[in-house]
Amino acid sequence: RKAKMAVIIERYKDKVSALPKNVDHLCRYQGFWYKQGFWYQSKADFSVEAIMAAQDDFQLALPTDIFLASHPKTGTTWLKALSFAILNRTKFKTTSGSSPTHPLLTVSPHDCVPFIDCESFLTNPSYANGLLATHIPYTSLPKSIINTDCRIVYICRDPKDVLISSWHFLNKLNDDVSTPIKLVDAFEVFSRGMSPGGSYWDHVIGYYKASLERPSKVLLLKYEELKKDPEKEVKKLAKFLGKPFTEEEEFDGSVQKIIELCSFENLREVSNDGKQISKVLSDSLFFRKGVVGDSINYLTPEMIQTLDKITKEKFDGLDISF
Ligand code: A3P
Repeated sequence: RKAKMAVIIERYKDKVSALPKNVDHLCRYQGFWYKQGFWYQSKADFSVEAIMAAQDDFQLALPTDIFLASHPKTGTTWLKALSFAILNRTKFKTTSGSSPTHPLLTVSPHDCVPFIDCESFLTNPSYANGLLATHIPYTSLPKSIINTDCRIVYICRDPKDVLISSWHFLNKLNDDVSTPIKLVDAFEVFSRGMSPGGSYWDHVIGYYKASLERPSKVLLLKYEELKKDPEKEVKKLAKFLGKPFTEEEEFDGSVQKIIELCSFENLREVSNDGKQISKVLSDSLFFRKGVVGDSINYLTPEMIQTLDKITKEKFDGLDISF
């Protein structure tokens, strides 16, 4: 596996070395900033080489494939769980009980829905029932996804919460190395659009515009709305995925059961069962607080003002707000 990753890195060595770099060694590719290389054994590399490899190698999207797209830390794990549970609800029981048959009761949502821009997929591109995920910005998606007219669900979130969630996440990943990233530095990089996958705002705008141009193919969801009215959003998602809930299902509580199965508490508990503890990226890292507006506990009023101002300016004239 490591050898295969080394081959990919070698394949793009010249292309990557020619890209502009910033002070954090991130490189700019097709208008966005990325880190280089792979974190071996991780589930979400999101490096420039992973994106280049996905663009070159992911050529056989099927019209039935569904892509769950997101910028990191916007609710990817939750969207994966919900979509997987919705699409497989006749195959697996959604309630926990004596026989935990549902995959989400034993493994991570990241194991149920693989990222195409990640080493485990790139080294073993067999894919699970047409449900796939990506962090790649809309304008950089592998061409076959667009040409094949696949359905795409995009989740986005208040930039302030994305920053705080990413900051915690990166510091946890960094736990045993060097010094922690200071919030003021993370803020600086994020607000200048130079964080991995940034600018966050441009990432959102790409999918937002696509959802206006191709509403039957691109659905935009917001973390905050999922939190506020999960039933409404889950029904919307099921309809878009081509598996709307029947009247009978609505009556018998199927929607609620899926929401419950995919709840933060439930998924976190499964992730704490410990199976992946030895990996670089343990599953429990994807579950921190799972609330809206936690950024207020960390950001200064000035930081909040700056981020809100950027959001207002960037989304000026667009029907999107947080
Ligand atoms: P916080 O760090 O604000 O708690 P991603 O999955 O894109 O990496 O996003 C991670 C964020 O989603 C984290 O946010 C995490 O706690 C939250 N999250 C994960 N699973 C969730 C769930 N089932 N419901 C709500 N939020 C969830």
